[in-house]
Order: sequence, then structure tokens, then C-alpha cells
Amino acid sequence: MVTHDVLIIGGGLSGMRAAVEAARSGLDVAVVSKVHPVRSHSVAAQGGINAALREDDSWEDHMYDTVKGSDFLADQDAVKVLCESAPGEIAELEAMGAIFSRDDQGRIAQRPFGGAGYPRASYLADRTGHALLHVIFEQLLKHDVAIYEEWHVVSIVTAIDGEGNKVACGVIALEILTGKLHRIRAKSVIIATGGYGRVFSSTTNAITSTGDGMGLAMEVGVPLKDMEFVQFHPTTLKRTGLLITEGARGEGGYLLNSKGERFMERYAPNKLELASRDVVSRAEQTEINEGRGVNGCVLLDLRHLGEEKIKERLPQIRDISIKFAGVDPIKEPIPIRPGAHYSMGGIMVDIDCRTVVNGLFATGESACVSVHGANRLGGNSLLEAVVFGRRSGAAAADFALTRATHGVASEEILDGALSKASHDIALILKRRGGESVAAVSADAKRIMQDKCSVYRDEATLKKALEEMADIKKRLANVTLRDRGESFNMELTMLLELEHLVALSEAILTSAIARKESRGAHSRVDFPRRNDEDWLKHTLIYKDDAGFRLEYKDVSITDLQPEERKY
Ligand code: FUM
Repeated sequence: MVTHDVLIIGGGLSGMRAAVEAARSGLDVAVVSKVHPVRSHSVAAQGGINAALREDDSWEDHMYDTVKGSDFLADQDAVKVLCESAPGEIAELEAMGAIFSRDDQGRIAQRPFGGAGYPRASYLADRTGHALLHVIFEQLLKHDVAIYEEWHVVSIVTAIDGEGNKVACGVIALEILTGKLHRIRAKSVIIATGGYGRVFSSTTNAITSTGDGMGLAMEVGVPLKDMEFVQFHPTTLKRTGLLITEGARGEGGYLLNSKGERFMERYAPNKLELASRDVVSRAEQTEINEGRGVNGCVLLDLRHLGEEKIKERLPQIRDISIKFAGVDPIKEPIPIRPGAHYSMGGIMVDIDCRTVVNGLFATGESACVSVHGANRLGGNSLLEAVVFGRRSGAAAADFALTRATHGVASEEILDGALSKASHDIALILKRRGGESVAAVSADAKRIMQDKCSVYRDEATLKKALEEMADIKKRLANVTLRDRGESFNMELTMLLELEHLVALSEAILTSAIARKESRGAHSRVDFPRRNDEDWLKHTLIYKDDAGFRLEYKDVSITDLQPEERKY
């Protein structure tokens, strides 16, 4: 049995930031991650991190932009925390060693991003997430945080405490190298497993972004929130779906259709390419659907920025465009299209990242503290990761400090959970004659890509849900070709797919129910936002009977909903 005070599932930016904060309380802290922490998906964040740093900007303006960007579904108490904390977080990241790009006065440089009324995205060229991840990883080492890398968590273990409340007491994890299952006991557990972009066949997300933490949370009775809101980033590369940063438009890039028109003039006459992501993605999809696309894409033209600027500010996307699309943006426009990028929904948590299970917390993209509502602004994700990573670490440490011992985490409960996991895996390995996990996975993703994308309607969503029921039946018979113990990636792929399918059902069920268009949820059969009936959060629970929906009020503290125009 492995024992720690605070255990974080997930080694991305938010998970590591949580670990550092918890370790500052002098507790014994560990991170369990299915990849080495610096290979987490946060490494792929490119364009920037928002904070009001200049005298003519303010956290109140940042809050206004964020709430407007969210189509008024964000919880304003949470957004206030996000925006007010932002300048301090940037200062701390810089003190930790993040070398932000500078402007000609030597200040931290800031670039315009979509939906923002001020250029407030600080950046490190177009490798912002990469740089921040390494800086926080150094802090993890400095604070002696234990790291279980390439361990895949298969269940969260809970017990009932003396007062009849459910409480988290650890996890069961599969060591991928050996195939051995381990019990990890902890006084508090933080889920920081990132998003579920791999629900879709075309996404900017790493293959590891399979929403495991959200799936695990649902299994222990925690509701997910606002799952219908999936962000489709406007600029993902043709064929591979790789991210081409919004920073490219922030630096002045244009979007063109097949006629060479700068079509955003028709959709967002003021902000043009820098309208919010949902608006730009819909505009692109409309151009493509109405026959003004270029082989299923539109074009991102950077040529007028010039070689020097492209090489200095956007070196990574130039490299990606050359290697994966055979296009050098200095000489030719880049073929791009909207692609699944970010999960606005996630595990329902309060402002201190607490779930409804005592001792269980969630942060980062896996959580829904509701700072993004129906549509996230670019640059607010890295910010959320550090602000709520810190807060979750502090809250989990406080909880652990109140528990003198591991209390209900008796060996018996963890032993029982380990036996169940071991039995379940043995049953999977015994199956014969079924389909491959890859075949079922490809079909599940194709359903979501084709039927639950930028534009949605009831009939298509319902069809997708029916097809997903069939996928579930096929999933139960999947047969692994690899029956080995060491690095059985087919087994981990199957465990991930089980979560992806459950999350697909949660997304579809929530999307069918929401009969309006708001932010990234665009229903062609209900094209208007309807505040009277739908200014509320969706909660979805999973139990033995299936999925159940409930709704929750939006926290509106300062900003009354208004029509969104860009
Ligand atoms: O476009 C980008 O660089 C992505 C940034 C973000 O999602 O915040």
C-alpha cells in the first residue's frame, strides 16, 4: 500500500500547480500521471495567458470580456476570482523562471486574443504552455513531490465516514510498465486529468485527453456540469487537426474564403478575426457549408506579417504547417478549419474546487468551476489552470490537515477496490472473438464528429445517441489482441474508451435537452439564446438507471446578460 496526504491525478499544469501549493503546507504530496508530467497536454497550449497588467487595463475589464465571451453563462463570482488573481499569478510564474516574451520597453509583451477588449495575453512566442509546464515541473522537484509516472488510475476509492458522508480515500492505479495494480491511500484527492477532446475524431488534443477524471468522478456519484458546451477552435490544421494558435490572428492574420474575401467582415464587423471563438468557428463552418471553402477548409493568411515577425512570434506554427501540411506560412496561406479543442463542461466544483464528495477536488479543464460558461476566451485556460490549481491545492491541503489519520481509508476498503479492478481486467483479457478497440473507437469518434459538432439539431443529436447505445454494446465485447502485462496500451486504450463513450452520452444528453443556442452550443432548430428558460447550468448524473439531468442557477453578481455583438 502506498500512502500520501494529498494525491493529485494528472500531471498537467493545473495538477502540478495544485501539488506545489499542497506541498507548501508541509504535507506529503504525490502526483499520479499516465504520462511523464512534461508530456501532459498543457504542453500544447500555444498562444498566451491572460492578465490585466497595464495601467489602462483592469481585472474588471478582463471580467467583462470573459463573461461576455461565456454568453453570460459563466458564474461571475468565479470569474472575479480568475481575473483578480491573474496579475499575481503572472508575477509568480515569472519569479519561478518563466521567460515571457518582452515588448520594446522591456515589459512582458501582450498580444490581442479573440473576444478581448484589450491585448492582454502574455506569451512565450507560441510555446506558452510548453514553457510554463517546465517551470512548474521544476517546482514539483524542488518541493519533493512524489511522481508516479505512467500509472493509469482505474478507480477512485470512496468510503462512508462516521457521519454518513461519502469521502474519498485513495485510488487504484495500473502501473503501465508492469501491469501491476496498486492501492494509493490519501487523505484528499484532486482530479486534474484535463479535457475529453478525443471524444471527436478531429481535435487539437493529445491522444491522452480522454476525460478519464470526469468518467471516474461520475462513477462515484459526482455530477458533470455544462457538458453540451464543447469549444471548436477556429484554426486547426487541415487533415491532422493540430492547433494553429489564435496568436496568429492576434498578430494580424486574416481569414479568407475561396473567393479571397475576408469573410469575417460579414459576421463580426468590429472584431473581425478576433471575435470570440464560437463566432469565428460558426462563420468558417458557414463559409464551408455554403460552398466558399477550399477543400473543406478556409485559409489563414499570415504572409503580410512578414518573415521576421513570423519567425520571431510564431515559430512553432510555421514549423507545424511546413511539416504537417507542406505549407510555409511565409509564402502561402494555411488551410484550417474548426476543430474540437476545449471542454467548457466538466466535474461540478465550487469556487474552492470541492466536489460533492468530501475530500475529492477537481481543477483545470477536468473541472467546471464555471469561469468559461458557454464559450471560453483564448488565454483563459492556462490562467484557470494556475489560479484554480493553486486554490485546489490549498483546499485539499486544508482538508487533509483536518484528518489526523487516513480514517475511513482502511486497508479493507482499498483491498476490496483492488480486487474488483483486478477481476474486471481479468474478464476483459479473457474475452475472445470480439472487435478490436481501435475499430470501435474510430466509429464512436466519427459519430461525435459528424453529429455533434459546430452546428447541431435535435434529430441528428438523437440519432447520435442511438448510435452510441450500439457502440456501448460493441464495447462490451471488444477483444484485445495484446494479452501481455507490460505496456499493454490496448488495455489502457480500452479503459479510456469506456470513459469517452460515457462522456459522449453525457454531452449528447445535455445537448439534446438544451433547446436554445448559446456560446458553442449552436442549435439550428433553436437559433436564439433564450435567457428566460435557459440561463442555467446543466448538471448530469450517472447511476445504474442511466443519466439524469438537473439544472442550477448561474451566479450573476455584477453583469446583467445583454446581446453579444463583436
Ligand atoms: O490558440 C491558442 O493558442 C490556444 C489558446 C487557448 O486555448 O487558450
